[in-house]
Amino acid sequence: VKEAMTETNRQWILNRRPAGRLSIDDFAYRETEWVPRPLRPGELILRNRMFLCMPTMRNWLDAPTGALYPSVAIDSPIMALGAAEVAASEREGVPVGARVTATIHWQDYQLVHAAQPVQLIPDSVSYTDALGGIGINALTAYFGLLCVGKPKRGETLVVSAAGGSTGSIVAQIGKLKGCRVIGIAGTDAKCKWLMDQCRIDAALNYKTENVERRLSELCPRGIDVYYDNVGGAILQAAADRMAKFGRIVLCGQIASYDTDRPSDGLRNMMRLIYGSVTIHGFLVGDFMKEKNVAVEALTAWLKAGALILRQDVRFGFKQLPASFLDLFSGTNTGTLLVAADESASGKTGKLQ
Ligand SMILES: NC(=O)c1ccc[n+]([C@@H]2O[C@H](COP(=O)([O-])OP(=O)(O)OC[C@H]3O[C@@H](n4cnc5c(N)ncnc54)[C@H](OP(=O)(O)O)[C@@H]3O)[C@@H](O)[C@H]2O)c1
Repeated sequence: VKEAMTETNRQWILNRRPAGRLSIDDFAYRETEWVPRPLRPGELILRNRMFLCMPTMRNWLDAPTGALYPSVAIDSPIMALGAAEVAASEREGVPVGARVTATIHWQDYQLVHAAQPVQLIPDSVSYTDALGGIGINALTAYFGLLCVGKPKRGETLVVSAAGGSTGSIVAQIGKLKGCRVIGIAGTDAKCKWLMDQCRIDAALNYKTENVERRLSELCPRGIDVYYDNVGGAILQAAADRMAKFGRIVLCGQIASYDTDRPSDGLRNMMRLIYGSVTIHGFLVGDFMKEKNVAVEALTAWLKAGALILRQDVRFGFKQLPASFLDLFSGTNTGTLLVAADESASGKTGKLQ
């Protein structure tokens, strides 16, 4: 396989464990030589093309804690989800030239062992859409809201990190299902976009407004479904305002990821008992058997213009760590993707 022979393999590795807030110096860039060995049955070599920046990857940079999530070793390339082209294959059904999504690392080339799954990207789907419009965050929004939150027409849905990749899709599916939707986001521009483009009912800026007071004003009969992407003080404010039989969907806890302390629990649990409130954590991976149903629904909404996406695509492998940091300052606008090449055209042609 021509492309996989002694190529330069750019990598971003974990230089040191972050102490509190992530710093660019926690990562180090290096160039190694990719010398492939003969593949065993079932193995693949991928040429990585696009990387999805996911907030939870910040948790993977911490030392192993016995928690259920993985920990990246110092000096190892950063683990991520991404899209790639198959450069060599000993796996049936995954030919050279096929495009896939998979768990990859921040590097150009990737050996995939026989036991590791990859998902083929259909010809009609771009890398951007495979990781964005019908990617993991869109599926998370779909399953988290519909299967965990179970919203009913007329109910009040509150969504945090509503201007982001997952949250903006949750908010729009909530509208499609007939809910009154209130979004919480960190800039006026995101709030305006949510109101004007996603047509939600109200949005509040948690950095400039009093979240407790605004939620009380906006949800006079309480919150039926709170879709939590952030945890911390915003989760507490929502939990204190849940309606009878309300559902709290625990999707993420980004407020605590970029710190050296674990995420907070809730105060006043008796209120939740008297409110018969459900708190339900979930992982998108729990629902993958139903993936096709979700992809079909998302695709139909996207085609009909009933769902709009914001995809924040950066170009160039060197941009990876700086782009990743933007998730924690809120300077990403939607699904944050980094293409491995500097331009929209990959080395081997159009980056689609
Ligand atoms: N359970 C699952 O299976 C699953 C799967 C995918 C994602 N998730 C979770 O979903 C959440 C959103 O992920 P995403 O990939 O869609 O990212 P995203 O929302 O596109 O980007 C993250 C956003 O979080 C907000 N944020 C950052 N720090 C914050 C803080 N301290 N307090 C409040 N908001 C903060 C920022 O927006 P603002 O400008 O609004 O601050 C930032 O833009 C994350 O918690 C992630 O872990 C869970």
